[in-house]
Amino acid sequence: MNHHARPNMPALDSYWMPFTANRQFKQAPRLLASASGMYYADMDGRCVLDGTAGLWCVNAGHGRREIASAVERQLMTLDYAPSFQMGHPIAFEFAERLAAIAPGPEGQKLDRVFFTGSGSESVDTALKIAVAYQRAIGQGTRTRLIGRERGYHGVGFGGISVGGLVNNRRVFPTLPGTDHLRHTHDIARNAFTKDGLPKHGAELADDLERLVALHGTETIAAVIVEPVAGSTGVLLPPEGYLQRLREIATRHGILLIFDEVITGFGRLGSPFATDHFGVVPDLVTTAKGLTNGVIPMGAVFAGRHVHDALMHGPENAIELFHGYTYSGHPAACAAGLATLDIYESEGLLTRAGDLAAHWAKAMHALADAPHVVDVRTIGLVAGIELQPRDGAPGTRAYDVFTECLARGLLIRVTGDIIALSPPLIVEAGQIDEMAATLADVIDATA
Ligand SMILES: Cc1ncc(COP(=O)(O)O)c(C=O)c1O
Repeated sequence: MNHHARPNMPALDSYWMPFTANRQFKQAPRLLASASGMYYADMDGRCVLDGTAGLWCVNAGHGRREIASAVERQLMTLDYAPSFQMGHPIAFEFAERLAAIAPGPEGQKLDRVFFTGSGSESVDTALKIAVAYQRAIGQGTRTRLIGRERGYHGVGFGGISVGGLVNNRRVFPTLPGTDHLRHTHDIARNAFTKDGLPKHGAELADDLERLVALHGTETIAAVIVEPVAGSTGVLLPPEGYLQRLREIATRHGILLIFDEVITGFGRLGSPFATDHFGVVPDLVTTAKGLTNGVIPMGAVFAGRHVHDALMHGPENAIELFHGYTYSGHPAACAAGLATLDIYESEGLLTRAGDLAAHWAKAMHALADAPHVVDVRTIGLVAGIELQPRDGAPGTRAYDVFTECLARGLLIRVTGDIIALSPPLIVEAGQIDEMAATLADVIDATA
C-alpha cells in the first residue's frame, strides 16, 4: 500500500517507523520537510507552528546556524575517535561546561558526566551505575530497581522494566527484581489546579516505605522517577511528594534517580527540575535538549559520592564496565557546546519561567472547551486531558491532533491527553495562537 500521488513524495515501504501506526500512516502520510525557528514546513511548503519542540528536544528552536557551523567545523577537524581508553578534547570540554551548570545547588552539584547516545541509554546507564555503586560500597545485595506506574524511561530493557506504560511492557519480558510506586494522577482531587503543583498526593511517596517493607531494604538499589512525567500525559508531582521520596530514599540507603530527559535544559523555567523543585537526587538522566535535538546524545549526571565510590581498586582497572561507541561523539559534543552557548546568551534556561504565567493563563482558558476534564501546566509544558469517547479511547485526541496539523499546529497526543511543550524561544503571540487553534479544534471535533 503506497502513496505516491504527489511528485515529491518518497517511497514509503522500507522505513519501519518507530512508535507509529505504520499502515495507517502510510495511507495518509504526514511529512515535515524543513524547519526554521518556531516553524516547520510540510511537503507543500505549508507552515506548521511547532507546539512540541519536535519531541521535547528542540529547545532553542530550529535551524540554528551556530550549531550547524560548530558541527561542520568539528567534523572537518576530528570526525570520530575511539571512546574507550582514548579521549578527545571536545568531550572533556563539554563535560566541564555541563558540570558548571549541573543539576543541584553549589557544593552539591551532580558534576560528574557520563555520555550516552539517547535518553534510553542514559536511563540504562544510570540504573547500572546505581547497582555498581551499591556493590562498590559493600551493599552488593542491593540490585532491585524501583520505578513508578505510568513512568516512561525509554525503551531499553532496563527502561521498560522500571517504566510503567503497559503497551511498552506487555509484549516484552522485563528485568526480574523490579517494582513500582503507584502513579500520582488524581483528577478527582486535583483537576484544574491553577496555582502551582497538585495539592493532594504527597503521601503516595510512602509507597517506597511499603516496598522496603515488602522486599527488604537491603535488596533495593535505586528508585527512578520523572520529576514531571511527560510521555504518559504530563503529570505534575504533588506538593511535597519529591521531598518525601528523597527523605525516604536517603533513610534507606536507596539512590534517587531523576529522569530529566524532558525536564532538563530549561523546560520548567530552571536549568533542571532538580533546581526547580529544590530536591537533589543522586543521579540525573538527560538527552534531548542537551544538543537541541540536532545530534543524538544523552548524558548522565552523577553526584560525586556516586562517582568517587567507584574510583577505587587498582589504577589500571576499568572502574565501570559500561560505555558506548558514541559516548562523547565529537559532533554531538560540538552541537552540545553550541547549544549551551545559545541557551546562555539568550537566557533560555530560565525563559520558561518568565513565560509560565502567560502560558498557564492561555492553556487554562481551554478548561471551558467541550470534553476537557483537566488542564495541567508547569513552565512551558501543558497537559490537556479530554474525556475519552465511549468505547473508542484515544480517538478524540487523535482527531484533535490531525485537525490541528491541518490548521498548521503540531501538537502531541498520548491516549486522550494533549501534550504541549514548544521551543523555549516561543513568543507570547504564538502561545495565544496555539491556544486559539486548540480551542477551535476541540470545539470542531466535539
Ligand atoms: C523521561 C524520558 N526518559 C527517557 C526517554 C527516552 O529517550 P530516547 O527516546 O532518546 O531514548 C524519554 C523520551 O521521551 C523520556 O521522556
